[in-house]
Amino acid sequence: MAYEFPVDFQWGVATSSYQIEGAIAEDGRSPSVWDTFSRRLGRIKDFKSGDIACDHYHLYPEDVKLIQQLGVKQYRFSTSWCRIVPEGRGAVNPKGLAFYSRLVDCLLEAGIEPVITLFHWDSPQALETRYGSWQSREMAQDFADYAAIVVAALGDRVTRWITLNEMTCFTHLAYKVGKTPEHAPGTKVKTQRDVWQTSHHALLAHGLGVQAIRAASPQKCDVSIVDNPGITVPLTETESNIQAAKNAFPYHCGNGGMIYPALTGAYHPGLLEELGENAPVIQSGDLETIFQPIDSLGLNIYTGTYIRSADNAKGCDWVPVPKGYPKLHMPWLQVVPESLYWGIRHVSETLNRPDLPIYITENGCAADDELTNNGEVLDTDRILYLRQYLKTVQRAAAEGYPIKGYFLWSLLDNFEWSWGYSRRFGITHVDYKTQKRSPKASFEWYREVVRSNRVM
Ligand code: FCB
Repeated sequence: MAYEFPVDFQWGVATSSYQIEGAIAEDGRSPSVWDTFSRRLGRIKDFKSGDIACDHYHLYPEDVKLIQQLGVKQYRFSTSWCRIVPEGRGAVNPKGLAFYSRLVDCLLEAGIEPVITLFHWDSPQALETRYGSWQSREMAQDFADYAAIVVAALGDRVTRWITLNEMTCFTHLAYKVGKTPEHAPGTKVKTQRDVWQTSHHALLAHGLGVQAIRAASPQKCDVSIVDNPGITVPLTETESNIQAAKNAFPYHCGNGGMIYPALTGAYHPGLLEELGENAPVIQSGDLETIFQPIDSLGLNIYTGTYIRSADNAKGCDWVPVPKGYPKLHMPWLQVVPESLYWGIRHVSETLNRPDLPIYITENGCAADDELTNNGEVLDTDRILYLRQYLKTVQRAAAEGYPIKGYFLWSLLDNFEWSWGYSRRFGITHVDYKTQKRSPKASFEWYREVVRSNRVM
């Protein structure tokens, strides 16, 4: 049948701790850098914060029921470092672990497999105060120690672990030269090299994290990293434009210094040359630490950039976005459905890792949703987006690329970082005053995709 997915294809949904949990001062949780950041005037739209968010900390049984109703069998969520190790290192907070243990049990009882991200940006403020978070190499070891604690506590029931979510966002968007960063901790640094040093430390955290997870896990487990490489898409699928998209890939959005070291064991040489004195200091042994064997790769992809071949040193040109190009409800959310297909294909061909099983760990869109008088959200724009994107995942599977599953972002409308609550990515509407959840039309649409294992 047309647009059918492989029989063992995994369907899921994704969320993250700070964006949905709320309960920021409960059961021994300490402030995270995002709590601090959202209290700095003007950093978050409408002065919002994750103080309450979706109150998932209390309402998780209801949210697990929603996941069950949706019919997906996988749920990706993150654990919050500052709930579990409030000072960032040292003493463990049993109540923090107990929350995730309850959540895991609730999921398993509902027949849903937990997929845990150990770091989705809400690091302890204590480590910011101590050494400036990712500016310090110490952050990498502290992360690994925290990861081991979580895995030791939940690893009897959880076998799927993700070290970090989107390194670029908590480093290159959080540390800037000469302008205000849009992500926490929001530090202005002196040089671009200082910025690259933060992502190098994140890579080290990943490598040490992988080792710590394997050492702490009581059973065989699947260890992964979630990256959001910028996706270069050939303007047309001619041989020369495809080659151009591959040539552009390591230079695009810093890919050569993020996903390259993690998957190939080296920064891309061309990117390093381009960085010159802005390249990070790489100590001997670092690349070996970073380049740990992993069992799968998670890709978060929302959009892409068209590339065509050109007669220049790199053999490629970045095609500018036309003024009227279709977008969803975010300035950066151009509709480029083939970005999913090309993201998957670049891993196999451009990064030369055809051996690595791939999951789309996030894809979805913000829409300017409105509730109708009878409380519905008829988000046909989100459905249009999802349908087009999913068709290209199906194409990748049909062509034999190792794409194993898809996690829609997000189960719920939630705290969208510096955009506060002004952008809704959920397939379930959340009324933040009453905490009422209302599945949108896209929820029903996705449920049918999952049920029939095909996209129509
Ligand atoms: C990704 C983040 C996720 C969410 C989506 C819209 O960059 O990982 O938390 O905010 O974007």
